[in-house]
Amino acid sequence: MELKPNQIICGDCIEILSGIDEPIADLIFADPPFNIGYKYDKYHDKVESKNYIDWTKDWMLACCKALKPAGSFYIAIGDDYAANVKVIADEIGLTMRNWIIWHYTFGQQTKAKFARAHTHIFYFVKDKDNFTFNDRAVRVPSDRQLVYNDKRSNPEGKMPDDVWDTFSRVCGTFKERQGWHPCQMPEILLARIIAASSKAGDVVLDPFSGSGTTAASAYQYGRKYIGIDMSNDYCEKTRERLEELEKLEWEENFKRLEIKRLCIEMGFSPEQVMASEKIFYFYKSQLDLRFDGILEISQKEITDILNSFGKFEVCRNKNITDDQSSNLIFN
Ligand SMILES: C[S@@+](CC[C@H](N)C(=O)[O-])C[C@H]1O[C@@H](n2cnc3c(N)ncnc32)[C@H](O)[C@@H]1O
Repeated sequence: MELKPNQIICGDCIEILSGIDEPIADLIFADPPFNIGYKYDKYHDKVESKNYIDWTKDWMLACCKALKPAGSFYIAIGDDYAANVKVIADEIGLTMRNWIIWHYTFGQQTKAKFARAHTHIFYFVKDKDNFTFNDRAVRVPSDRQLVYNDKRSNPEGKMPDDVWDTFSRVCGTFKERQGWHPCQMPEILLARIIAASSKAGDVVLDPFSGSGTTAASAYQYGRKYIGIDMSNDYCEKTRERLEELEKLEWEENFKRLEIKRLCIEMGFSPEQVMASEKIFYFYKSQLDLRFDGILEISQKEITDILNSFGKFEVCRNKNITDDQSSNLIFN
């Protein structure tokens, strides 16, 4: 069977991916049900642990069949089965490059134990010596640049670390919230993964597409997408979500998403970015690096887009208090 890019396919990902003739994906992002009793329309999310682990191996193998030799494979998973995913990955010959913790900033409140507020995201590759990793697409201004005016700072900013704590869950008030899926991932989290681990025109595959976040981010980044979900309803609604985005050319979407992602990664609201000459300087330098060779963007365009955003959630910036940011001195 041949899979064509830019489609959302309804069906069982194991059956579909096991049946393909050639590897098709440059990047796979998989966010399977966690076996914790979430309410999906079709999938029953509470099965015997052994069955869940066997099934995990089956879909990971099917994904490996679909992944090109230089491809990257990210898997989001909860605490209960993170260790199993790592063991299976070792067995099937994947190389782990990062074990990322996504700290999504607030969890469900508990009484008898600490509130859970994170998800594991594994970053694997098929070939440890041959893969795409665009560091300039994900670097962020460092504290050396922003706070300490340190001349030793790298002008290209710093690599984010493997604890991701600036991306909030998609709350009810967020514009991107679809409302018809129980566990939608944020577009900017997918944007970071797609920016780092794929190139323009690459194929990004999501075997558990859900509300279609991966396809939505891939489209906005000028990548091709393939989403698979067993729910006809989720697939239908995802196609509608993509049709909305496709009203704008990917370049327009890309600029907006990238400008928003950098605000959130730096922990500043658009107003804060524009209020300080120094913050804006580093913000724009970082954007220039990210856009280099992809798109031209002027200062006016950046400020127009920043001004056009309604309020969006930025996580507290740990290193720079409001007080400090207003006192930053431009060298
Ligand atoms: C955790 S959700 C994915 C959410 C997605 N990352 C998002 O941002 O919307 C898991 C999805 O896997 C789907 N699913 C479960 N088993 C499947 C299978 N065997 N093949 C394809 N989809 C499946 C469910 O219907 C559900 O929508």
